[in-house]
Amino acid sequence: MVWTKALVTGASSGIGLSIVRELGRRGVAVVLVARDIDRLNTIANEHPVAAEVLQADLTNTEQLAAVEQRIEVGDIDLVVNNAGFGLDGMFIDHTRDDETNMVLVNVVALHRLSHAAAITMKTAGTGSILNIASVAAFTSTARASTYSATKAFVVSFTDALASELKGTGVTATSLCPGLTRTEFHDRGDYDLDKFPDFAWQTSDEVALQGLHAAANGERRRIPGAVNKAMVGVIKTMPETLIRAVGNRFF
Ligand SMILES: NC(=O)c1ccc[n+]([C@@H]2O[C@H](COP(=O)([O-])OP(=O)(O)OC[C@H]3O[C@@H](n4cnc5c(N)ncnc54)[C@H](OP(=O)(O)O)[C@@H]3O)[C@@H](O)[C@H]2O)c1
Repeated sequence: MVWTKALVTGASSGIGLSIVRELGRRGVAVVLVARDIDRLNTIANEHPVAAEVLQADLTNTEQLAAVEQRIEVGDIDLVVNNAGFGLDGMFIDHTRDDETNMVLVNVVALHRLSHAAAITMKTAGTGSILNIASVAAFTSTARASTYSATKAFVVSFTDALASELKGTGVTATSLCPGLTRTEFHDRGDYDLDKFPDFAWQTSDEVALQGLHAAANGERRRIPGAVNKAMVGVIKTMPETLIRAVGNRFF
């Protein structure tokens, strides 16, 4: 699949920014969505082809609706639902609003924008939806209860959406990164010291894998040998053992 215009949420940093830069190298126009307008304007100015800025807080219903309407214009053939965040720590130690906002950004926004994209692209007979999940989708560990659940939703939903879209010219792909060097861990107050260097990927590596999988119309991609091996092992382990190891680690 060769795209002409992509809408990327969470385009202001990390994996989303790496995706935008790779799209720029491929000559793809972009619509950049995030809250930080200064960063988005700088990124748009650097983009080698057309770039629009659409400032939106995806926890806000009206601002999310504006992004849905932008997709419904019908000129976008790649939607990347990348915006997301996690919070290290116990469910009851976070505010109710912080926990709810995680669901609003990681699940509700992705869900509504996938709906807008699937309908609009199906009418056009072509398009790709790339939803950013996480290896956390495959575990349910303490200190990551809501985050893991949001990412499990992304994988499960995207798998089924891919089936529903079969034969329409539209594909849905989930990307499940593991540890990736971005602003994610600072924002979520994660302790990084316990994670060995070999477990990390760069956002550029992850972005390339995601775009490759979406271009091929793959249902799901786990980038990186370490992440692939980890998910492979998790799938062969009894649930109680996965939980015990995960809870001990986190
Ligand atoms: N880094 C990792 O280790 C890792 C691993 C697995 C999966 N992931 C997933 O990868 C995706 C990208 O994260 P990242 O690692 O690149 O982290 P990041 O550098 O913190 O980027 C997160 C992006 O999401 C945007 N965002 C957050 N809340 C938003 C809101 N309310 N409204 C609109 N945009 C919002 C941020 O933009 P503004 O602040 O400008 O709004 C930013 O552009 C996320 O879905 C994350 O769950 C990350």
